[in-house]
Amino acid sequence: WPLAGRAATADRGDAPDFTAKEIDEQPAAARRLLDGLLGRLADGRLLTDLGLARPDRVRLVACGTSRHAAEVVARVLAVEGGVPSRVVTASEADLAVPEPGTLTMALSQSGETADVLAALDRWDDPVLALTNAPRSSLARRADAVLGLGCGPEIGVAATKTFTAQVIAGVAVALAIASASGRLAPARLAALEQVLDGLPARLAASAALAAAPAAALADELADRPGAVFVSRGAGVPYAQEGALKLEELAYRWVEALPAGELKHGPIALLGPGTPVVVVGAEPRERLAVGIAEVTARGARTVLVGSGEDADLPVCLPAEEPPWGPLEAAVALQLFAREVTVRLGHEVDRPRNLAKSVTVE
Ligand code: AGP
Repeated sequence: WPLAGRAATADRGDAPDFTAKEIDEQPAAARRLLDGLLGRLADGRLLTDLGLARPDRVRLVACGTSRHAAEVVARVLAVEGGVPSRVVTASEADLAVPEPGTLTMALSQSGETADVLAALDRWDDPVLALTNAPRSSLARRADAVLGLGCGPEIGVAATKTFTAQVIAGVAVALAIASASGRLAPARLAALEQVLDGLPARLAASAALAAAPAAALADELADRPGAVFVSRGAGVPYAQEGALKLEELAYRWVEALPAGELKHGPIALLGPGTPVVVVGAEPRERLAVGIAEVTARGARTVLVGSGEDADLPVCLPAEEPPWGPLEAAVALQLFAREVTVRLGHEVDRPRNLAKSVTVE
C-alpha cells in the first residue's frame, strides 16, 4: 500500500473554487477507497496485509478535522469490537499514559502536522498512519500506511480527506473487531453492505442538500454565531460542521452533545440563533433538545433524512456505528455557501495553513 487511485487532479476545471471541487469529489474518492478495502476486513485480513498484529487497545492521535474522524473510529471500535481506545489530541499528548498491547493510529491528511509527529515520539507502539500523503514525514515514521488515495486537496479546509479518513478508519476498526472474534461474520457482511452504498448516498446527499444549503446561507449568513448539536455517533459530525463554519466563514460556533445544552450553553440562545441539529435520526432521540431550542425562539436547522429536514441528506435506514457521515457533505456545502455570501476567500481562509508544521 498506498492505494493506487489518482483520478483527482490539482486542476480546478469548471468549479468555482477547489473546495467546491473537492466536496464534489467525495463519492468518487469514497468508491476508490472502498474498492480497495471491502472484502479484506473479515478475520482482520486488512491488518495482516498491513503487517500489523491484532492490538488489545488502540490509541488514535490527530488534530482538528482528523481528530473528529478519530472520534468516529473510536466509537466503532467500542461498539462493534468492545476494543478499548483513546483519542489523543496530538498537542495534548503529554497527558497520555503508555499502555502495552497498543496500536497507535495517527490520522493526518497532510502527514506533516508537527503536533502529530511530536506526539509519536512519546510511545514505542506500532504506528499505523492514515494519510493522504504516502510520502510524508508521518508515512516514513509509521510502521504501516493506509493511504487515502483522494488525490490533491488544495482547499485549506479538509473535505474529501475527512470522509476518506472516516471510511479508512472504520475499515481498520471493523478488521480489528473481526480479528478479536467479537464481530460476527453476518454482522460484518451487513456493515460492509452499508459501506458499499456510501458513495451513492454521499452523491445523493450532495444533490439533495445543495439548494437548501444555498437558501439557508441566504437566510443565516449574517448571524454572528451558531450552535451545532447532535447525539451519540452524530456528535463528531456536529463538531466537524462547526469547524468548517469557523475556519471558512469566521463565525463563532459552539458544538456539543444535545444533552449538554441545558447545562449552560442554552443561555447563548436567543431569537433567531441558528441551532444546527445533525443526523437527528430517530428524531425522538433529540426531541427534548429541539423543544428546548424552539421554546427560546432559536432557528432550528435539522440535518437528516426526515421529511422535515431543513438540510436533507440520504442516510441508511438504520444508523450505522459510524453515524451520519453523509451529513458531513451537507455541512461542508452550507459552510462554503455562507463563506461565499460573506465574500471571504473559500480556498485560503485567513490565519490558516494547509499543514501546520509548527508545534
Ligand atoms: C481542517 O479543515 C483544518 N484545516 C485543520 O483542522 C486540520 O484538520 C488539522 O490541522 C490537521 O491536519 P492534518 O490532517 O493534515 O494533520
